[in-house]
Amino acid sequence: MKHCAGFAAVPLLLLTLCSFSQSPAPQGPWMNANLSPDQRAELVLKEMTLDEKVALLHGVGMPTDDPLTPENAPSNRGVGYAVGVPRLGIPGIDMSDAAYGVRSSGVNGRYSTALPANVAAAASWDRDAAFEYGALIGRELRAQGFNMSLGGGVDITREPRNGRTFEYLGEDPVLAGTLVARLIEGTQSEHVIGDIKHYAFNDQESGRNSVNIHIDTRAARESDLLAFEIGVTEGHPAAVMCSYNRVNGDYACENKFLLTDVLKKDWKFPGFVLSDWGGTHSTEKASAAGLDNEEPGSFFFAERYKAAVQKGTIPQSELNDHVRRILRSMFAVGVIDYPRQRSVVDPFAGLEVARKIEEGGIVLLKNDRAALPLIPAKIHTIAVIGSHADVGMISGGGSAQVDPPVGNAIAAPGKGATHWQDEIWFPTSPLKAIQARAPEAVVKYDSGADPAAAAAVAKGADVAVVFAYQWESEGTDLASLSLAHNQDALIAQVAAANPHTIVVLESGSPVTMPWVAAPAAIVEAWFAGSDGANALGNVLFGTVNPSGKLPNTFPRSEADLPHPSITMPPPESAHWSGPVSPEKEAAGLPAFQASYDEGVKVGYKWYDAEKKAVLFPFGFGLSYTTYNYSALQVTPGEKVKVTFTLANTGARAGAEIAEVYASLPASADEPPKRLVGFSKVKLEAGEKKNVTVEVDPKYLSIFDVNKDGWKLIPGDYTISVGGSSQDLPLKAVVNLK
Ligand code: BGC
Repeated sequence: MKHCAGFAAVPLLLLTLCSFSQSPAPQGPWMNANLSPDQRAELVLKEMTLDEKVALLHGVGMPTDDPLTPENAPSNRGVGYAVGVPRLGIPGIDMSDAAYGVRSSGVNGRYSTALPANVAAAASWDRDAAFEYGALIGRELRAQGFNMSLGGGVDITREPRNGRTFEYLGEDPVLAGTLVARLIEGTQSEHVIGDIKHYAFNDQESGRNSVNIHIDTRAARESDLLAFEIGVTEGHPAAVMCSYNRVNGDYACENKFLLTDVLKKDWKFPGFVLSDWGGTHSTEKASAAGLDNEEPGSFFFAERYKAAVQKGTIPQSELNDHVRRILRSMFAVGVIDYPRQRSVVDPFAGLEVARKIEEGGIVLLKNDRAALPLIPAKIHTIAVIGSHADVGMISGGGSAQVDPPVGNAIAAPGKGATHWQDEIWFPTSPLKAIQARAPEAVVKYDSGADPAAAAAVAKGADVAVVFAYQWESEGTDLASLSLAHNQDALIAQVAAANPHTIVVLESGSPVTMPWVAAPAAIVEAWFAGSDGANALGNVLFGTVNPSGKLPNTFPRSEADLPHPSITMPPPESAHWSGPVSPEKEAAGLPAFQASYDEGVKVGYKWYDAEKKAVLFPFGFGLSYTTYNYSALQVTPGEKVKVTFTLANTGARAGAEIAEVYASLPASADEPPKRLVGFSKVKLEAGEKKNVTVEVDPKYLSIFDVNKDGWKLIPGDYTISVGGSSQDLPLKAVVNLK
């Protein structure tokens, strides 16, 4: 390998390329790009020895943490590395976490853009933005020297207290699946292997290594699995990461139903399945069930695997199938034809993408008396309060964590690397963004530590902008949806002191709001990414008209959730995975049971069916303009065609997310309605457009377990169209057979 040390020290604009030359110049007929990925994989496979094949089936540890070894030396020091077949010109698979940007750049002295959290991208309901999101990740991974992304989280928000809600794309499988497909296409367009994770039902972090999720097949296929189905069949990820938990008895990474029957057979997934880190639990069983690659280590899929093949307990054909899948994925994505090559990440381009995605994802939840947008000429004093809004904005933690340049904005600048479970603020200052947009105003900051003192600052100002955050991270769930750190009291007191109070939330999950009636405006900014403050400033001051809509319902209280409390593991059950060891496997992890008996009733489907009022419904979001829906027509056909007219009836240009729901015939026995399509439509002030949404018949079907497939129930379907799951002015009934 060419030595790359000192790379970080070169001036930013001096483009220094540093290629990974551990693989000799590729030769052999498989380098003929006119052949299909499958043909090319087959040609390589024929040349491979047993050792070479087995070497592709496992990782060599976590190069980020491990000492340098001959095996991990060619890696880029990410979280995972599978050695390739240098003799045949097959490079190693060099993996980095990259949920909302490339992880662990700080430790390597490199720059990564933090995009807004995935949930913010979901709130944009914007297919093109999802592609851009994935493409930026792909570009920066490549520029840093990686050829595989571990992003693509799409477990739906069945449990909104899940500490990884920010990494996922909301509670609806059609929305989440559609967007993750585009995200993966974006990443893979940069010749970086994309994955989709965590397959499946890793809907809570509590006891994720030992929980056994019970769910019936129909509900499973129509909820969480539908999001994966759309992601896999539309986005064509090269890889799927199986999750830590068990599903109906078996660990996901040795679950034949999930890996073989559904993923590989029904969805015809041609790529490879890799285990979540330490999520492999067996050799023969996992291999037969459909696991292709153990990560990050080599406990089950290395020596033991080879011995099993030699003994005949794993057939050659099974081994070859795993290897073929890995190879064909590498050819399909282009990591062999377009080898990774280090270059310099363009931070300015990254900031622009991050800002635009955040601008499209910010959700305006409340705006009484047109409190927003702020008009600088009318404002002389602004109080900015809370959440370190003087220096930064919070980000999501865990393996998704992106390192801010020069380290946490609230700590002394350090090396730039972050630490597991630290709350990390990005150096994007709302205070500065607000001051820049109201240069004549006096802008004062108060930390919010003492609500009474903050209220006193707010009282004297024309406008008070109070920031509240709810940090979340992998490895832990939220204790509740209430804001921590006394922030409910802070907001209540500030809003009581100043009628022109704007609340800005930085959260990944929904939050409860005992104070909801008090402030004039509420804005959900999510974890806003590297340039979050500018995006927020543009929305607060109206340079950007907000257009985001909630991808998750905000309930009134935890009591209204399907499970008022999360099913927690017993104390003896390990919480965190850690490395797999023979001792740990021998001892076994005691399973505990969690029943997802709400079944398909996830999110709004639950509140609709149970007739529970909510704080803010799924699909809800305000704008500075108004829209009108009219002239609905529904035409049956191979795809049901839904057309309607959408008009911007206000004085500002905007983008409206038009949502299409279907209510199935009563005999289908489904929740009252489900999202079946959507379109984000840009409209100038006064402009009108005819909009067409074509509905995939699967989205109108039920999963019939007897047929083991999707089935349309003949009968009357009500199609509803509008701007939120609870504001659907257009309705039409169509008979479908
Ligand atoms: C997480 C994965 C992540 C992996 C590697 C696991 O703990 O669940 O999402 O990709 O670690 O960091």
